[in-house]
Amino acid sequence: MFITLEGPDGSGKTSQINPLAEFLRQQGYAVFTTREPGGTPIGDQIRTVLMNLENTAMHPRTETLLFCASRAQLVEEVIRPHLAKGEIVICDRYADSTLAYQGYGHGKDLAQLRLLLDYATGGLTPDLTLLLDIETEQGLRRRQTAGSEWNRLDAYEIELHRRVRNGYLELARQEPQRWCVLDASQPTEAVQAALRELVMRRMPPAHTLNVR
Ligand code: TYD
Repeated sequence: MFITLEGPDGSGKTSQINPLAEFLRQQGYAVFTTREPGGTPIGDQIRTVLMNLENTAMHPRTETLLFCASRAQLVEEVIRPHLAKGEIVICDRYADSTLAYQGYGHGKDLAQLRLLLDYATGGLTPDLTLLLDIETEQGLRRRQTAGSEWNRLDAYEIELHRRVRNGYLELARQEPQRWCVLDASQPTEAVQAALRELVMRRMPPAHTLNVR
């Protein structure tokens, strides 16, 4: 079972992933969590280049390829081996982030991006994608007040963030069997409860999986 968490900046994905993984472990599942961009030593080096505020000259195509390079490494080095062991893999962002940010956000051709993503992931698609949806201004405010580091990618104009949010909602509409949309403006605990319920509804019984 390969689960991805997606959402605009400030949707709170990152603080939800560990409690969700812990809950699933308590239910008897073996769970591995990772994140993008990064998640491998090579991916973390790529992440540093992507996030560097000084890299203002970075062209959107360069940015797209770097995200895809980090992802290709993560899929082969980490995600596939853990799935092969029968574990549940939960990834904080994945290919849909590229469609939402580089595609809908930066207006890059979606059909071309899909081909590139298919190449980068070797065709590995999530079984379940959880979208933490939040209104753009609220998300960005939350992100700033949370005190997390303000990086090059946050500094884009607000219109881009709006297109990203709407892009996510469009992607979810196109593949309703894979996506679940959650209201991330609720308190953290309510979002976590909703996540747990949704995931458990999709999960095969623990004893049918290869668990620790
Ligand atoms: P990060 O600090 O990991 O933010 P978050 O906690 O919101 O995931 O930064 C990731 C940023 O990179 C975020 O603004 C989304 C962006 N991004 C893309 O533009 N394309 C991609 O393919 C990925 C994976 C992320």
